[in-house]
Amino acid sequence: MPAAATTTVIVIGSGGREHALGWKLAQSPRVKKVYFAPGNGGTFENVDIKQNEIEKLVEFAKRQDKGDCLAVVGPEESLSLGIADAFAKEGLRLFGPKKQAAMLETSKVFAKEFMQKAGIPTAAFATFSDAQKAKDYIAGQNKPLVVKADGLAAGKGVIMCDSTQQAIEAVDKIMIAKEFGAAGGKVVIEERLVGEEASFIALCDGKTIMPLASSQDHKRVFDGDRGPNTGGMGAYSPAPVVDKALHEKIVKRVMEPVLKEMNARGTPFTGFLYAGIMVDEKTGEPYVLEFNTRMGDPECQPIMMRMKSDLYEYIDAAVDGRLGSMPPIEWHDRTAVCVIMASRGYPGAYKKGEVIEGLGDFGPDTTVFHAGTAKDAQGRIVTNGGRVLGVTATGKDARCAIENAYSAVRKIRWGENGHYYRTDIARRARP
Ligand code: AMP
Ligand code: GLY
Repeated sequence: MPAAATTTVIVIGSGGREHALGWKLAQSPRVKKVYFAPGNGGTFENVDIKQNEIEKLVEFAKRQDKGDCLAVVGPEESLSLGIADAFAKEGLRLFGPKKQAAMLETSKVFAKEFMQKAGIPTAAFATFSDAQKAKDYIAGQNKPLVVKADGLAAGKGVIMCDSTQQAIEAVDKIMIAKEFGAAGGKVVIEERLVGEEASFIALCDGKTIMPLASSQDHKRVFDGDRGPNTGGMGAYSPAPVVDKALHEKIVKRVMEPVLKEMNARGTPFTGFLYAGIMVDEKTGEPYVLEFNTRMGDPECQPIMMRMKSDLYEYIDAAVDGRLGSMPPIEWHDRTAVCVIMASRGYPGAYKKGEVIEGLGDFGPDTTVFHAGTAKDAQGRIVTNGGRVLGVTATGKDARCAIENAYSAVRKIRWGENGHYYRTDIARRARP
């Protein structure tokens, strides 16, 4: 007999990831209500508090029944502002790492030095806080490099360089012109790896790793992985590149060493731990490109569609440090594909406020998760951001999931040719 539905959940954030988390959590027999703060045009029920208004979020959580309220954090911004520390101080339940542990995402210099200390495989690197020293170092390298701003830069602070000249210009952009603001106080310069990428995400309670299904996202805006990086134009799960042997390697060489090193530093890691992995083209070995200390967006959308187990039970256990006593998470043996419908122009300038047409019920295999949407005064759903919708569908294999997702995508539109989407999402996952 499941326990009675007594719990209130607060999902913090406003994207497709948060819609998908709340959608899944609301299905738990233990959850009586899900609030989204601030949510979007597709989420219910919304609270008018932004993800960076930490004190207000604390006050809102305090007004709920303390023992039976759980906050789940979507975006890194809230974590970087110390939301987990603020909730802990008040004895409030929240799933997400404290500020010090979240540095694995908020500082690339911290992350690289952490990996080096913990023996986690990653590209060879050097870090600099002086632009001239960084350029001198580049001049002595004779290989393709990647130059990264240290701090949070919404995925844009990573510059891939084919020549010495480009790498030097990248340092100028980051450290001199300060194109990413304070994020560019330091840089990481690293060797450029070649291979296939995958996202490996797990729930952590400080001691135990509970892996989620593998996934892969598409960061570039145009088909064929061309054009500028975005927050993500689509994703699918599972990622065939992560077979059983690779899964084991990532758990042993990457995820477990993170928990061990965090504990050694007295900053146990609780929350979603996301490793962006490059599977080396030649050796097939996994290397960490980056860590995120939150769920992926849009990886979350296909992962939630495939999850058979009750997400609430696992997050509840993680917050209490009980993940070690939980069975492995069960998954639907299907492929899930999420196609992002964006405002034309994204990641550059785009229009807002266009009425979205064609939203409807696309059947049990398809869910449209909202991201950059809002409700206008007449209650219509309008565009309100770059990434607008995550049309997510499952199928018995990748081909069927792709077909299901795109058949819904083709029915949705806004403005005068105002929407844009990639047409090749999950092509690599096809049987
Ligand atoms: P990051 O935010 O560090 O994950 O970088 C964003 C994207 O840049 C990654 O998803 C990769 O596609 C690419 N990238 C980052 N570091 C490297 C590297 N060392 N070698 C090749 N590609 C990289
Ligand atoms: N999809 C990449 C991210 O969430 O960072």
